[in-house]
Amino acid sequence: MTNPILTDADIDTSAIRGKPVAIIGYGNQGRAQALNLRDSGVDVTVGLRSGSASEAAARTDGFEPLPMTEAAARADIVILLVPDEVQPELWNETLSGAARKGATIGFAHGLAIHYGLIEPRADLDVILVAPKGPGKALRADYERGSGLISLVAVAQDASGTARATALAYAGALGCGRAGILETSFQQETEADLFNEQGVLWGVIPELIEAGFDTLVDAGFAPEIAYFECLTEVKLLADLIYERGIAGMRGAISNTAEFGAAEGSGRIVTAEARAEMKRILAEVQDGSFVRRLMADARAGYPALRASRARAAAHPVEAVAARMRALKSKR
Ligand SMILES: NC(=O)c1ccc[n+]([C@@H]2O[C@H](COP(=O)([O-])OP(=O)(O)OC[C@H]3O[C@@H](n4cnc5c(N)ncnc54)[C@H](OP(=O)(O)O)[C@@H]3O)[C@@H](O)[C@H]2O)c1
Repeated sequence: MTNPILTDADIDTSAIRGKPVAIIGYGNQGRAQALNLRDSGVDVTVGLRSGSASEAAARTDGFEPLPMTEAAARADIVILLVPDEVQPELWNETLSGAARKGATIGFAHGLAIHYGLIEPRADLDVILVAPKGPGKALRADYERGSGLISLVAVAQDASGTARATALAYAGALGCGRAGILETSFQQETEADLFNEQGVLWGVIPELIEAGFDTLVDAGFAPEIAYFECLTEVKLLADLIYERGIAGMRGAISNTAEFGAAEGSGRIVTAEARAEMKRILAEVQDGSFVRRLMADARAGYPALRASRARAAAHPVEAVAARMRALKSKR
């Protein structure tokens, strides 16, 4: 199914004008969204937990943060921008009772709603505005006069105007300058969780490490292995982003292109594709999210072990040396 890509021309900005927005959390997305909204003329309050590590940053940016319940209580639109695994307890035990009757609650990722970890009050609108990129990119694009692509969806439409609110919110983030795609919480959540594990954040770094190990084990200098397997990823990503995969091939040498053809299907084998399907199945049957929530409840042992493994990989020492050299230039 192909959906139209919407832009600022399709948005009725009055759906957000004059409506106080509470941004709950001031991290990766929270900071960028709060700043973009404010620069778009939206009345924004930042809500933080007591003793928040982000309070100083929010104050430096000119906000006067309130306790989360106070921020939620004064808002028509409450956007939850704390980690996904934190949202259910925070909403169900604290914020649900504070939100105004008929308010809108919003998410940048659909996990807590899609898996039923939050069951919102019937009087609320529930929207998703998921910018496709990290907060730094959302902010930098906005400042440059462009925007990030965003997905929007509605899970509950008590007012009959939830879609207009979602589009106006995405517009105020600057996403209408780039393109807004309407979808469902199910599609956004499952595709995003699949991609994180099966394509981008899980697989590409592991491919880089495996390529680096292969060269270093064969006696190549770690610096050569680093340049070949890591730094060129940026060039590749930029080319694919600008020209597509087929277009990227037109921008590399015949040797590189012939090598790409020779390597095709040797690493991403039928077995790897079958594993991708298993990853998607575990996302769709909820078993991945059950493991995520269990790890969070236990104090993140699996997440901490994975961070430690990544930090200990030999490519990190070379990367740190190279970054230090670059910063001296
Ligand atoms: N990161 C991305 O690139 C990205 C992209 C698209 C969508 N999203 C989605 O955006 C949402 C927010 O993600 P994020 O990466 O922006 O989160 P994040 O940076 O990890 O969020 C940090 C904020 O959450 C607060 N926080 C953490 N644990 C808390 C707790 N137990 N109780 C109260 N506050 C707590 C932190 O408090 P302190 O101020 O005390 O540190 C901080 O203000 C998620 O739904 C995520 O899936 C993220």
